[in-house]
Amino acid sequence: MNSQNTIPKDKGIDNTLKLLTEGYLFIKNRGEKLNSDIFETRLLGQKAICLIGEEGSRLFYNPELFIRSGAAPKRVQKTLFGINAIQATDGEKHLHRKELFMSLLMNPERIEDLAKIFRDKLSRAAAQWEEAEEVVIFEEMKNIICSSAFQWVGLPLKDDEIKAKAQNFIDMIYSFGSVGPKYWKGKKARCREELFLQRIIKKVRLGELICHSSSPLYVVSSYKEEEEELPEAMAAIELINIIRPIVAISTFITFSCLAIYEYPALRRELRLKNEDYYEYFVQEVRRFYPFAPFVGARVKKDFIYRGVNFTQGTLVILDIYGTNHDPKIWSNPYEFNPLRFRAKERNKYSFIPQGGGDYLKGHRCPGEEITLELMKVFIDFFVNGIEYKLPKQNLSYNLHKIPTLPESGFIICTVRKKKT
Ligand code: HEM
Repeated sequence: MNSQNTIPKDKGIDNTLKLLTEGYLFIKNRGEKLNSDIFETRLLGQKAICLIGEEGSRLFYNPELFIRSGAAPKRVQKTLFGINAIQATDGEKHLHRKELFMSLLMNPERIEDLAKIFRDKLSRAAAQWEEAEEVVIFEEMKNIICSSAFQWVGLPLKDDEIKAKAQNFIDMIYSFGSVGPKYWKGKKARCREELFLQRIIKKVRLGELICHSSSPLYVVSSYKEEEEELPEAMAAIELINIIRPIVAISTFITFSCLAIYEYPALRRELRLKNEDYYEYFVQEVRRFYPFAPFVGARVKKDFIYRGVNFTQGTLVILDIYGTNHDPKIWSNPYEFNPLRFRAKERNKYSFIPQGGGDYLKGHRCPGEEITLELMKVFIDFFVNGIEYKLPKQNLSYNLHKIPTLPESGFIICTVRKKKT
């Protein structure tokens, strides 16, 4: 890998379109071609430095060197994150707001509450699946997880509201890497949900809607920065930053089904309900399958790294997919092997499916524990709770598309609840 004092340069006046068409492989392929884990390219009409691997991840997650404000393109904020949400804050403001998210999301009792809601809803769904000709796991999961998430935040949905709400959240997630109608769909979905939640937050603040004081709805509605409640619009955006990524877990769950299908020898361990093995399995799903592609920041102040000038304001992108498949970190990175997680404690820079570094000081995802728990609940249900058959279908997924999914959404049929 490159050890000179210049960064290899990617060809092209602007490679944004190539990024959109090459997807998860854009950075990785170029790193391999240029034989470097750091290189320069041009994206969105500006210079961008791409980093792959543990060393790059350590650099990227140094909060002294990078900021997030101005890093995410507006189109990503208008669909995925929300304008000026936690993802784009820095310094004290970020630290304070991150404490809010951590208190709500990294609390074992709350995680268990959500897991229980999800478990109950899965069990009820299984009874309906017995009657259905076919069940598309991704479609079912987005609805079940969305209704679980709303119930958990303190705003239970009526049965006839679930489908449309779930679709809005999926549209926000699945539109950020798109152009044209799909992008507009995501943007409209966000507007609808922001307005809906603004009205709800207003009612909570006026005492017209009563919710439990420990519920995320109440906690976000009453959270203060510099002694002021968040503007309703911002509180709604941050509540969406809790609900939307919970709905997104349906993607990892769909990939978990694919792993269970593609590696049948591993089912035996999952049937034994060995807790350690469940942990290794879900970690390997998060490493192996593509979801969050990369993450961006801007240079906070000029510095030199490996003899290379990083000038203030430069866009820097860390490759999540490439780092999780970096052969310097992972032996046989394209082999699905949960037991690799038994061998060695991963450090917080080498395994980064939901970002890396410190939770509190940096932007690492505060929803990792929730993600792991819901995946485990689902896998136990899928392996030990039901029997099913798999009709013929297209289970391939396209690495050139961000985000991606098995094409069929993973269809099962002839579902029967197992007698315990
Ligand atoms: C579905 C799987 C998930 C994936 C792939 C994922 C991925 C990520 C990534 C890559 C980041 C950015 C890290 C960085 O900027 O360095 C992030 C941040 C974040 N995630 Fe997740 N996440 C997931 C689930 C969740 C869940 C379940 C929640 C909440 C319940 C959540 C809430 C957040 C929040 C609030 C941030 C912003 C943190 C900050 O800026 O300090 N995520 N996530």
